[in-house]
Amino acid sequence: MSALPALAELTNHQIRLASRPVGLPTRANWNNTCEPVVEPGRGGVLVKTLCLSLDPAMRGWMNEGKSYIAPVEIGAVMRAGGVGRVIASQNPAFAVGDHVSAGLDVQEYCLIPQEQLKRSGIFKIDPSLGLSTWLNVLGMPGMTGYFGLLDVGQPKPGETVVVSGAAGAVGQTVGQLAKLKGCRVVGIAGGQAKCDWVVKELGFDACIDYKNTDVRAGLKEHCPQGVDIYFDNVGGDILDMVLAKISRGARIIICGAISQYNNTTPVKGPANYLSLLVNRARMEGIVVFDYAERYPQAIAELASYLLAGSMKSKEDVVVGLDTFPETLLKLFNGENFGKLVLQVAPD
Ligand SMILES: NC(=O)c1ccc[n+]([C@@H]2O[C@H](COP(=O)([O-])OP(=O)(O)OC[C@H]3O[C@@H](n4cnc5c(N)ncnc54)[C@H](OP(=O)(O)O)[C@@H]3O)[C@@H](O)[C@H]2O)c1
Repeated sequence: MSALPALAELTNHQIRLASRPVGLPTRANWNNTCEPVVEPGRGGVLVKTLCLSLDPAMRGWMNEGKSYIAPVEIGAVMRAGGVGRVIASQNPAFAVGDHVSAGLDVQEYCLIPQEQLKRSGIFKIDPSLGLSTWLNVLGMPGMTGYFGLLDVGQPKPGETVVVSGAAGAVGQTVGQLAKLKGCRVVGIAGGQAKCDWVVKELGFDACIDYKNTDVRAGLKEHCPQGVDIYFDNVGGDILDMVLAKISRGARIIICGAISQYNNTTPVKGPANYLSLLVNRARMEGIVVFDYAERYPQAIAELASYLLAGSMKSKEDVVVGLDTFPETLLKLFNGENFGKLVLQVAPD
């Protein structure tokens, strides 16, 4: 219930959407702005942004049109989830110094009025688990992997699970969780270093380097009994190649299609979809926000694995709010190794 004395002297640097991109976003699609930091009103909190989650979904939010969430308006501060520290509070549920996770957006300070607290998804976090972990395994990507794999995929011990984007944020949770549930896990990732990491560090059974090797041959070699669950993060040709290898009763989780997000032509759909018919298989989409009420259950289970050392959380942290336009692009050229996090300020 108090404010830092220097609050009135603080300036909030922000990154706003200037225009809608065609293809890959460029610097011209963004505007840097600043405004004074203001005290929260009754029931509100002011959060200093420490780390932001950079997500492939941001590319979709920059587009006009209907989706599972409204587009970011031109001129608005770019939407982003993040973790931060409460620096002023008029709300008894949050004290100055508390670490929180919330929709903070791409800016240094986020004022959350009382009426927007629920919408912001704010909750207190334990920083001792690692701030960036709360944007990865214990954050939105981890929740996506957890509910996508367990609720939609319903894995059974001994089944073969294939996950694309294997070394990324969602992929690392999916593969590790599938191993913990007794499955055989085959990743698909770009480059030898990422493939080596998921096998040697995360315990995947195999990983196919889609940039340098033949994915069809890799699937044949590593999934001799077929694919029971395919967790699809990339769409496009890889989805088609896996569809050709699914087993009877397979489940395909459509989590994302990053290979298609910057297309200037229509999204490429799967040509091999009749494999679903032949194999009595199902393909189902997931939107993580539908599971928000059950996040505490997933966080508790995933945190227990992290604390026990049976799961790892790897983040790729880039420093500096101003680097946002270029840093975001790392997701689309595969330069991120682990969950991409933008560090806005040290704790
Ligand atoms: N449905 C939901 O609720 C939900 C929630 C969160 C995320 N998602 C989706 O899940 C997917 C993964 O997200 P993430 O946050 O975990 O990202 P990420 O995997 O950490 O980063 C993106 C990765 O995608 C790979 N990639 C980029 N372009 C590609 C291409 N053309 N073909 C194949 N792979 C490509 C790159 O890895 P390589 O180096 O291996 O190519 C890159 O590192 C995305 O599609 C995202 O939209 C969905």
